Amino acid sequence: MALLFNSDAERAKIFAAEFARELPSLPFVTDAGSVNPAAVRYLLTWTAPSDLERYVNLEVLFSVGAGVDQFALDRLPKTVKLVRMIEDGITRMMQEYVTLAVLALHRDLPGYLGQQSVGDWRGRPVRQATERRVGVMGLGNLGQAVLDRLCPFGFPLCGWSRSPHEIPGVTCYNGDEGLSDFLATQDILICLLPLTAETRGILDASLFTKLPSGAGLVHAGRGPQLVTGALVAALDSGQLSGAVLDVTDPEPLPADHPLWRHPKVIITPHVASVTQPETAAKTVIANIRRHEAGLDVVGLIDRDRGY
Ligand code: NDP
Ligand code: OXD
Repeated sequence: MALLFNSDAERAKIFAAEFARELPSLPFVTDAGSVNPAAVRYLLTWTAPSDLERYVNLEVLFSVGAGVDQFALDRLPKTVKLVRMIEDGITRMMQEYVTLAVLALHRDLPGYLGQQSVGDWRGRPVRQATERRVGVMGLGNLGQAVLDRLCPFGFPLCGWSRSPHEIPGVTCYNGDEGLSDFLATQDILICLLPLTAETRGILDASLFTKLPSGAGLVHAGRGPQLVTGALVAALDSGQLSGAVLDVTDPEPLPADHPLWRHPKVIITPHVASVTQPETAAKTVIANIRRHEAGLDVVGLIDRDRGY
């Protein structure tokens, strides 16, 4: 029995040390060529290897990241559990990133960056946090963590998800039937949805028109959820006042893409959260222990929902 690790060498060192300390009975392998494929019970990887069918005794495929849209679910035998990464490092970094982005839009950083480029010393209109409504699409691990971090600023907070949720201090909406009412009250909209057939292209022209005029967008879900042309049109018409984008389609965003130079857009190269090997290794080890004890693993993907 072995775990095959398929990620970068720096991370491998940290994972290997943690596995040697905590789970010495499980061989931790980084070279696929050096292990009998039939011995591989656990695979930790960002994408599925092209020769996945060699691992005939694979039991759990752990995603290195929180998202799993990079895996073709229909290629994965039904007996294999697919598990997304839920670990403190990812969560903390996403809290930081979204807080940074929300405050940037709340205090009109894109406007001040434009003024700085022409040496224009002039204050811009301000609104109090209590008058800036902030809403998150996706009330999962990350959406809820972000709301928790935003709470002390005093923004009125809302959230939208597939199923109903009750979160203290947050007005929750759910389903297609709740989407329009949710959008109508968001001055800053944050997208933290997984990429599925339902969420692909969800940030489109129709959605933008349902937001209050002058709303801002923070997008840290997945690039294909955003219809870029619709975003540019909404920014140019003033329907949206600014956007902070961590994910784009394609990635990397080509150097000549108009979004790079749009005065109302701030772009980061998919760095909102990065899996932290120290905490991620602990999470994977705990999940292997749960799996071997016959307990539910944390972060198991429901193949019907796609997340
Ligand atoms: P979770 O699976 O914990 O949460 C997903 C949330 O989205 C749930 O609340 C779910 O609703 C909701 N949702 C899913 N589909 C729909 C739908 N069709 N309509 C309404 N709501 C829906 O995921 P995480 O919070 O861990 O991560 C979210 C995503 O963030 C990841 O999938 C990834 O794409 C992205 N991400 C981006 C990173 C970056 O660096 N930019 C880093 C890490 C993650 P319900 O609660 O009802 O099930
Ligand atoms: C992830 C990501 O899914 O970094 O973890 O996007």
